[in-house]
Formats: sequence, C-alpha cells, structure tokens
Amino acid sequence: MVDTGLPTRELGQTGMPVTRLGYGAVEIRWARPEARRVTDTFAGELLNAVLDAGINFIDTSPDYGNSEEMIGRWLAGRRSEYFLATKAGCPVTVPAGGNDRAGHAYTAENINAAVEQSLRRMRTDYLDLVQFHGAPSKANLAEHGGLDALRALKTSGKVRFIGASAFGANLRPLVDLGVFDAFQIPYSLLQRAHETDISQARRGGAGTVIRGGAARGITSEEKQWSVTSLPVSEEASRSTWERARLDELLDGATRMAFTLRYTLSHPDMDTAIVGTSQIAHLHDNIAVLRQGPLPADVYAEAKRRLDAAGNPAADDQG
Ligand SMILES: NC(=O)c1ccc[n+]([C@@H]2O[C@H](COP(=O)([O-])OP(=O)(O)OC[C@H]3O[C@@H](n4cnc5c(N)ncnc54)[C@H](OP(=O)(O)O)[C@@H]3O)[C@@H](O)[C@H]2O)c1
Repeated sequence: MVDTGLPTRELGQTGMPVTRLGYGAVEIRWARPEARRVTDTFAGELLNAVLDAGINFIDTSPDYGNSEEMIGRWLAGRRSEYFLATKAGCPVTVPAGGNDRAGHAYTAENINAAVEQSLRRMRTDYLDLVQFHGAPSKANLAEHGGLDALRALKTSGKVRFIGASAFGANLRPLVDLGVFDAFQIPYSLLQRAHETDISQARRGGAGTVIRGGAARGITSEEKQWSVTSLPVSEEASRSTWERARLDELLDGATRMAFTLRYTLSHPDMDTAIVGTSQIAHLHDNIAVLRQGPLPADVYAEAKRRLDAAGNPAADDQG
C-alpha cells in the first residue's frame, strides 16, 4: 500500500493501515443523468479522485446499485492502492424479502453467492473485508449458517477479514462473540448511541469503521438542514444542535466540518467512511482530516453540551 501522507491507523488487529477517512461508495450507485446523480463517467472521476487524494479504504455493498461494478470498472487497475470492504447477506440467491426485516438472508448459499458476485463485479480475486449487511442478530447468523460460511471464505483466502455492520441491540452480542475483525457502526454527534460501543469493540480487538460520520450532510449549510434520511429526525437534530449551542464552539469552522471533526476525534474509531458525490466535498473532508482531532477542551465541552441537550452517549437511539 502506498503511503499517501494522510493519517492512517491499523484497522483493529488486521495489520491493514487504513486512512482515518475512508470513502463510502453508496453515493455512486446512481447511473442516471438527472440532477445530483452520478453518471458512469463521473463515478470513474470520483473514484480516481478518492485514490489520488490518498484515501485507501473504500466501502461498498451489493445493495448499492451499480457501486460495485463502478469500482471494478474504474479502479481494478489500481487494486493494490486500496483496501476493499463490501458486504454480504444482501439478496443474491434469495428474492428480496430474505429472512430478516431488511430483506437480507444469512444462509451459506447466499453468503457464498454474494462473495462470488462481488469478486466478479469488482474484478479482483480477494476482498479485504466482507461485512454482514443489515445488522443481523447473532441468532440469525448462527441459525442460517452465514457465519460459518463467511469464516470458511476467510480460510479460503477469498476474503481476508470478516466484519459486521451492526447497531442497536444486535451490536454488543456480535462484539462479544469475538470472531469479527471489524464492525461498521453508525455514529456522529447527532447519533451518539454507540459512542461507548465503539470503544468496547476496539478494546475487544476489532477494527471500527464508522458510517454516518458526516451526519449524512445534515449540518451542511448548503443543504440547509434539508436531509431527511437521518435515523433521528431532522427536527430533532436541529434542535439538539441548537440546544447544545454548538455554534459557539465552531471557531470559524462550518457546522459540517465540526461534525466530521467530532467523529474523527473519537479515540477508538479507525476509519470514517464518509460518502460524497462531489469532488469538492471530498477535498473539504480531507482538509478536516488534516486538522487532526478537535482540541481536547473543545471535544470535552461539545460532549458535555450534547449530554446536557439530551443527546448522551449511551442512550439507545438506534
Ligand atoms: N452498513 C449500512 O447499513 C450502511 C448504511 C448506510 C451507509 N453505509 C455506508 O456508509 C457510508 C457513509 O454513510 P452515509 O452516506 O449514511 O453517511 P455520511 O457519510 O455521514 O453522509 C453522506 C452525505 O453527506 C454529504 N456530505 C459529505 N461530505 C460533505 C461535505 N463536505 N459537505 C456537505 N455535505 C457532505 C453527502 O452529500 P454530497 O454527495 O452532496 O457530498 C452525502 O449525502 C456510505 O457511503 C456507505 O458506504 C452503510
């Protein structure tokens, strides 16, 4: 892996030095030319810009439309420059509906088929990290044979490390299993439910991949609080920000930059896979990364204010 000058950290105990800012490739799933959609050609520009900027960790999923195909088409020739994380459990051999609420299925057949499909789509003979998608329960993984199947794929070398995307009540039991190399966990200053779980996972030896670390763009001035896909409502998020009087801590930063820097300041987070469909945003986010963590007193004060505003770390906010 080329040293690109961005801060890196070993993902858990995998030996993979991942950049603290990764790229979440859900945003390139669109291939339609309408406004704010990413064409195939632009997906190539964006993906190459990610690597050119020094990011070495890309997260995708069979669930993200043509994201895997775009990675294969545009980045297969640069395969040694990035760690590739994808997911399994998404519908491949099963009709959408699967065996959990999110329409996923954790059967050996479906897991094996997902990995073969990802290898083919991304034009590679190994996947660095395959994570169970859809936050399955421990019982679901055991009952349907998915965990054994993924572990066998690791033994075969097609998959180097295994992980789980998890949240809510399903996260801790999977951490406690002690078999996963990494966890993908939703987290930001507006979604602090797993602030301590991140540390717990890291203490257990697992890597921590943070999603939603840019709070899905909700604090971006340009979006004017118009993003509605946050698990907590837009109104609740705005109200939390205002009650915590976080504007007083910005010190010239944008709300968006402060939000991302807060995520990157978590001492036990290895990489934050921020998604973007805009090269300018990619560079803005890298500039935030280069600033390093928030000053300790500002970080502590932000936490104190968020606690007082009713957004504490340990509440189960999903
Ligand atoms: N495991 C799962 O179930 C799961 C679920 C969701 C996502 N994910 C993964 O996690 C990644 C990130 O999660 P996410 O997309 O939910 O959350 P996120 O990274 O917090 O937010 C992405 C959003 O933030 C905006 N954004 C990024 N940088 C910005 C900037 N500098 N200024 C203004 N807006 C900015 C992007 O809009 P622009 O395109 O306009 O920049 C995009 O809409 C995904 O790409 C995907 O790989 C996993």
